[in-house]
Amino acid sequence: MRRRTTGAAVLTLAALALAGCGADSSASTSARPELKVTGAYMPTPSMDTMAAGFFTVTNSGGADTLTSVTSDLSDDVTLHSTRDGTMEEETSFAVPADGTLDFASGSNHLMFEKLTHRPKQGEKVSVELHFAKSGTLKISMPVQSATYNPKTGH
Ligand code: CU
Repeated sequence: MRRRTTGAAVLTLAALALAGCGADSSASTSARPELKVTGAYMPTPSMDTMAAGFFTVTNSGGADTLTSVTSDLSDDVTLHSTRDGTMEEETSFAVPADGTLDFASGSNHLMFEKLTHRPKQGEKVSVELHFAKSGTLKISMPVQSATYNPKTGH
């Protein structure tokens, strides 16, 4: 039930964004997204059943959508948001035109389940981000300490 509500809310936002573009809508929807992924990391998981991943997508072009994520580490990678302290699975995340999509501890995150192995600190996990327009971006997600804070860098 909650998942449905979330999907509808996302669709409504997208519709509003398109409507808000008015005369510019054809130009802005055809503008190519220019995506850059930075700050990717995975805290060392405390179990081999589940791990989280974080990163930031910076877009200097037209809007795009993150539709799915795949990885050697898991055949089951899902997109999650956190609202009022509760995780919810999302079917996609919007990458706004000239904006950012942020994944951060306590907020949006990737969830890796049924891990092929338990990653150790210093390891790099290869992750493919699939976007509706930009196609696949392959990133290398370094495994940091379990309590890593990207703001302090350790
Ligand atoms: Cu989650």
